[in-house]
Amino acid sequence: MTAPRPLIAGNWKMNGLAAALSEARAIAAAVDASPPAARVALCPPATLVARMADALAGTGVAVGGQDCRAEASGAFTGDIAAAMLADAGATMVILGHSERRAGYGETDLLIAAKVEAALTAGLEPIVCVGETLEEREGGRTLAVVTGQVRGSLPAALAGKAFSVAYEPVWAIGTGLTPTLEQIEQVHLAIRSTLMQQFGEHGAGVPILYGGSVKPSNAVEILGLKEVGGALVGGASLKAADFMGIVAGA
Ligand code: PGA
Repeated sequence: MTAPRPLIAGNWKMNGLAAALSEARAIAAAVDASPPAARVALCPPATLVARMADALAGTGVAVGGQDCRAEASGAFTGDIAAAMLADAGATMVILGHSERRAGYGETDLLIAAKVEAALTAGLEPIVCVGETLEEREGGRTLAVVTGQVRGSLPAALAGKAFSVAYEPVWAIGTGLTPTLEQIEQVHLAIRSTLMQQFGEHGAGVPILYGGSVKPSNAVEILGLKEVGGALVGGASLKAADFMGIVAGA
Protein backbone atom coordinates (compact mmCIF):
# COMPACT_ATOMS: atom_id res chain seq x y z
CA MET A 1 0.00 0.00 0.00
CA THR A 2 1.37 3.42 -0.93
CA ALA A 3 1.98 5.89 1.88
CA PRO A 4 -0.53 8.77 1.91
CA ARG A 5 0.71 12.23 1.03
CA PRO A 6 1.77 14.05 4.19
CA LEU A 7 -0.32 17.03 5.29
CA ILE A 8 1.14 20.30 6.56
CA ALA A 9 -1.64 22.38 8.09
CA GLY A 10 -1.30 25.86 9.58
CA ASN A 11 -3.45 26.74 12.58
CA TRP A 12 -3.71 30.52 12.81
CA LYS A 13 -5.72 30.31 16.07
CA MET A 14 -7.14 33.75 17.01
CA ASN A 15 -4.70 35.65 14.81
CA GLY A 16 -5.21 37.46 11.55
CA LEU A 17 -7.14 40.39 10.13
CA ALA A 18 -7.81 40.87 6.43
CA ALA A 19 -4.28 42.18 5.89
CA ALA A 20 -2.93 38.75 6.84
CA LEU A 21 -4.43 37.30 3.66
CA SER A 22 -1.28 38.53 1.93
CA GLU A 23 0.65 35.83 3.85
CA ALA A 24 -1.85 33.20 2.66
CA ARG A 25 -1.46 34.45 -0.91
CA ALA A 26 2.32 34.28 -0.61
CA ILE A 27 2.09 30.69 0.69
CA ALA A 28 -0.18 29.69 -2.21
CA ALA A 29 2.14 31.36 -4.74
CA ALA A 30 5.13 29.46 -3.33
CA VAL A 31 3.23 26.15 -3.29
CA ASP A 32 2.08 26.60 -6.87
CA ALA A 33 5.54 27.71 -8.07
CA SER A 34 7.12 24.56 -6.70
CA PRO A 35 4.54 21.91 -5.71
CA PRO A 36 5.71 20.26 -2.47
CA ALA A 37 5.54 16.58 -1.53
CA ALA A 38 2.94 17.43 1.12
CA ARG A 39 -0.62 18.66 0.85
CA VAL A 40 -0.85 22.14 2.37
CA ALA A 41 -3.73 23.73 4.27
CA LEU A 42 -4.34 26.90 6.28
CA CYS A 43 -6.91 27.15 9.06
CA PRO A 44 -7.61 30.84 9.72
CA PRO A 45 -10.09 32.28 12.23
CA ALA A 46 -13.72 31.84 11.16
CA THR A 47 -13.96 35.46 10.03
CA LEU A 48 -11.34 34.85 7.35
CA VAL A 49 -12.43 31.43 6.08
CA ALA A 50 -14.58 32.71 3.20
CA ARG A 51 -12.16 35.42 2.13
CA MET A 52 -9.19 33.08 2.30
CA ALA A 53 -11.06 30.39 0.38
CA ASP A 54 -11.85 32.96 -2.32
CA ALA A 55 -8.26 34.22 -2.37
CA LEU A 56 -6.81 30.70 -2.61
CA ALA A 57 -9.40 29.19 -4.98
CA GLY A 58 -7.66 27.18 -7.70
CA THR A 59 -4.34 27.11 -5.82
CA GLY A 60 -2.69 24.12 -4.18
CA VAL A 61 -3.57 25.32 -0.66
CA ALA A 62 -6.76 24.12 1.07
CA VAL A 63 -8.62 26.10 3.72
CA GLY A 64 -9.93 24.70 7.01
CA GLY A 65 -11.83 25.77 10.08
CA GLN A 66 -10.52 25.52 13.65
CA ASP A 67 -13.63 24.06 15.30
CA CYS A 68 -17.32 23.46 14.64
CA ARG A 69 -20.45 22.75 16.59
CA ALA A 70 -21.79 19.18 16.68
CA GLU A 71 -25.34 20.32 15.88
CA ALA A 72 -26.28 21.27 12.31
CA SER A 73 -28.05 24.52 13.26
CA GLY A 74 -30.01 26.15 16.07
CA ALA A 75 -29.87 28.49 19.03
CA PHE A 76 -26.14 28.37 19.74
CA THR A 77 -25.05 31.99 19.87
CA GLY A 78 -21.50 32.52 18.69
CA ASP A 79 -20.97 29.01 17.39
CA ILE A 80 -20.42 27.80 13.84
CA ALA A 81 -21.79 24.68 12.13
CA ALA A 82 -19.73 22.37 9.95
CA ALA A 83 -21.98 23.09 6.96
CA MET A 84 -21.31 26.83 7.44
CA LEU A 85 -17.55 26.22 7.19
CA ALA A 86 -18.08 24.14 4.06
CA ASP A 87 -20.39 26.80 2.64
CA ALA A 88 -17.65 29.38 3.24
CA GLY A 89 -15.19 27.29 1.22
CA ALA A 90 -13.45 25.20 3.88
CA THR A 91 -12.66 21.59 3.06
CA MET A 92 -11.14 20.63 6.42
CA VAL A 93 -11.64 21.33 10.10
CA ILE A 94 -9.42 21.00 13.18
CA LEU A 95 -11.32 19.33 16.03
CA GLY A 96 -10.40 18.60 19.64
CA HIS A 97 -7.47 21.01 19.81
CA SER A 98 -6.08 21.04 23.35
CA GLU A 99 -6.94 24.73 23.68
CA ARG A 100 -10.58 23.69 23.23
CA ARG A 101 -10.33 20.55 25.34
CA ALA A 102 -8.81 22.58 28.19
CA GLY A 103 -10.49 25.97 27.71
CA TYR A 104 -14.00 24.78 26.85
CA GLY A 105 -14.13 21.42 28.62
CA GLU A 106 -14.45 19.50 25.36
CA THR A 107 -14.63 15.76 26.00
CA ASP A 108 -13.77 12.88 23.69
CA LEU A 109 -17.51 12.22 23.34
CA LEU A 110 -18.23 15.78 22.22
CA ILE A 111 -15.29 15.75 19.82
CA ALA A 112 -16.54 12.48 18.29
CA ALA A 113 -19.93 14.14 17.72
CA LYS A 114 -18.21 17.10 16.07
CA VAL A 115 -16.27 14.72 13.83
CA GLU A 116 -19.55 13.15 12.71
CA ALA A 117 -20.95 16.63 11.98
CA ALA A 118 -17.85 17.47 9.96
CA LEU A 119 -18.18 14.29 7.91
CA THR A 120 -21.86 15.01 7.25
CA ALA A 121 -20.84 18.42 5.90
CA GLY A 122 -18.17 16.85 3.71
CA LEU A 123 -15.24 18.26 5.71
CA GLU A 124 -12.01 16.33 6.32
CA PRO A 125 -11.38 16.31 10.09
CA ILE A 126 -7.98 16.82 11.70
CA VAL A 127 -8.48 15.38 15.19
CA CYS A 128 -6.04 16.52 17.88
CA VAL A 129 -4.82 14.49 20.84
CA GLY A 130 -2.01 15.03 23.33
CA GLU A 131 -0.92 14.72 26.93
CA THR A 132 -0.31 17.45 29.50
CA LEU A 133 3.06 17.80 31.21
CA GLU A 134 1.58 16.31 34.38
CA GLU A 135 0.34 13.29 32.46
CA ARG A 136 3.74 12.81 30.81
CA GLU A 137 5.60 13.12 34.08
CA GLY A 138 3.16 10.65 35.61
CA GLY A 139 4.03 8.08 32.91
CA ARG A 140 0.53 8.20 31.45
CA THR A 141 1.29 9.59 27.96
CA LEU A 142 0.48 6.50 25.92
CA ALA A 143 -2.64 5.67 27.94
CA VAL A 144 -3.96 9.24 27.65
CA VAL A 145 -3.22 9.64 23.96
CA THR A 146 -4.53 6.25 22.84
CA GLY A 147 -7.60 6.77 25.02
CA GLN A 148 -8.25 10.11 23.28
CA VAL A 149 -7.82 8.45 19.88
CA ARG A 150 -10.32 5.71 20.75
CA GLY A 151 -12.78 8.15 22.29
CA SER A 152 -12.61 10.99 19.75
CA LEU A 153 -12.73 8.98 16.52
CA PRO A 154 -16.22 7.65 15.78
CA ALA A 155 -16.83 4.52 13.68
CA ALA A 156 -18.28 6.83 11.01
CA LEU A 157 -14.68 7.67 10.01
CA ALA A 158 -14.25 4.20 8.48
CA GLY A 159 -13.21 4.65 4.87
CA LYS A 160 -13.21 8.46 5.16
CA ALA A 161 -10.32 10.90 4.69
CA PHE A 162 -9.11 12.23 8.04
CA SER A 163 -5.93 12.75 10.02
CA VAL A 164 -4.88 12.66 13.65
CA ALA A 165 -2.60 15.34 15.10
CA TYR A 166 -0.43 14.41 18.10
CA GLU A 167 0.18 17.63 19.97
CA PRO A 168 1.74 17.37 23.44
CA VAL A 169 0.02 20.19 25.36
CA TRP A 170 3.31 21.26 26.94
CA ALA A 171 4.96 21.65 23.53
CA ILE A 172 2.35 24.01 22.07
CA GLY A 173 3.60 27.56 21.75
CA THR A 174 6.42 26.94 24.23
CA GLY A 175 9.39 26.26 21.97
CA LEU A 176 9.75 22.90 23.73
CA THR A 177 9.48 19.67 21.77
CA PRO A 178 9.63 16.04 22.83
CA THR A 179 12.70 14.06 21.84
CA LEU A 180 12.51 12.36 18.45
CA GLU A 181 12.25 9.01 20.26
CA GLN A 182 9.29 10.28 22.30
CA ILE A 183 7.48 11.51 19.17
CA GLU A 184 8.11 8.22 17.38
CA GLN A 185 6.91 6.18 20.36
CA VAL A 186 3.60 8.06 20.57
CA HIS A 187 3.03 7.96 16.81
CA LEU A 188 3.58 4.19 16.78
CA ALA A 189 1.05 3.79 19.59
CA ILE A 190 -1.46 5.95 17.69
CA ARG A 191 -0.87 3.87 14.54
CA SER A 192 -1.60 0.59 16.28
CA THR A 193 -4.74 2.08 17.89
CA LEU A 194 -5.93 3.31 14.47
CA MET A 195 -5.37 -0.16 13.02
CA GLN A 196 -7.32 -1.75 15.87
CA GLN A 197 -10.17 0.67 15.21
CA PHE A 198 -10.19 0.88 11.42
CA GLY A 199 -8.21 -2.12 10.20
CA GLU A 200 -6.23 -1.61 7.01
CA HIS A 201 -7.70 1.90 6.53
CA GLY A 202 -6.06 2.86 9.83
CA ALA A 203 -2.65 2.05 8.33
CA GLY A 204 -2.94 4.92 5.85
CA VAL A 205 -4.33 7.71 8.06
CA PRO A 206 -1.74 10.53 8.31
CA ILE A 207 -0.58 11.15 11.88
CA LEU A 208 0.62 14.74 12.14
CA TYR A 209 2.93 16.07 14.84
CA GLY A 210 2.19 19.49 16.32
CA GLY A 211 3.86 21.61 19.00
CA SER A 212 6.62 24.16 18.30
CA VAL A 213 7.32 22.91 14.79
CA LYS A 214 9.58 25.39 13.01
CA PRO A 215 11.84 25.38 9.94
CA SER A 216 14.84 24.37 12.07
CA ASN A 217 13.27 21.18 13.45
CA ALA A 218 10.82 20.26 10.66
CA VAL A 219 13.12 18.01 8.64
CA GLU A 220 14.06 15.75 11.54
CA ILE A 221 10.49 15.54 12.88
CA LEU A 222 8.90 14.98 9.47
CA GLY A 223 11.47 12.30 8.71
CA LEU A 224 10.38 10.13 11.64
CA LYS A 225 8.60 6.84 11.09
CA GLU A 226 4.83 7.31 11.29
CA VAL A 227 4.99 11.12 11.19
CA GLY A 228 2.74 12.02 8.27
CA GLY A 229 2.87 15.79 8.43
CA ALA A 230 2.60 18.67 10.88
CA LEU A 231 0.05 20.94 12.49
CA VAL A 232 1.79 24.28 12.83
CA GLY A 233 0.67 27.19 15.00
CA GLY A 234 2.95 30.21 15.44
CA ALA A 235 5.22 29.38 12.50
CA SER A 236 2.26 29.26 10.08
CA LEU A 237 1.57 33.00 10.40
CA LYS A 238 4.49 34.04 8.24
CA ALA A 239 4.84 32.66 4.72
CA ALA A 240 8.62 32.32 4.93
CA ASP A 241 8.52 30.26 8.15
CA PHE A 242 5.64 28.11 6.99
CA MET A 243 7.25 27.41 3.61
CA GLY A 244 10.46 26.46 5.44
CA ILE A 245 8.43 23.71 7.15
CA VAL A 246 6.55 22.67 4.00
CA ALA A 247 9.89 22.24 2.24
CA GLY A 248 10.96 19.76 4.91
CA ALA A 249 8.13 17.32 4.21
P1 PGA B 1 2.61 25.94 17.89
O1 PGA B 1 1.05 25.44 17.94
O2 PGA B 1 3.15 25.46 16.56
O3 PGA B 1 2.53 27.43 17.97
O4 PGA B 1 3.29 25.29 19.04
C1 PGA B 1 0.66 24.22 17.40
C2 PGA B 1 -0.83 24.04 17.58
O5 PGA B 1 -1.38 24.42 18.61
O6 PGA B 1 -1.51 23.50 16.67
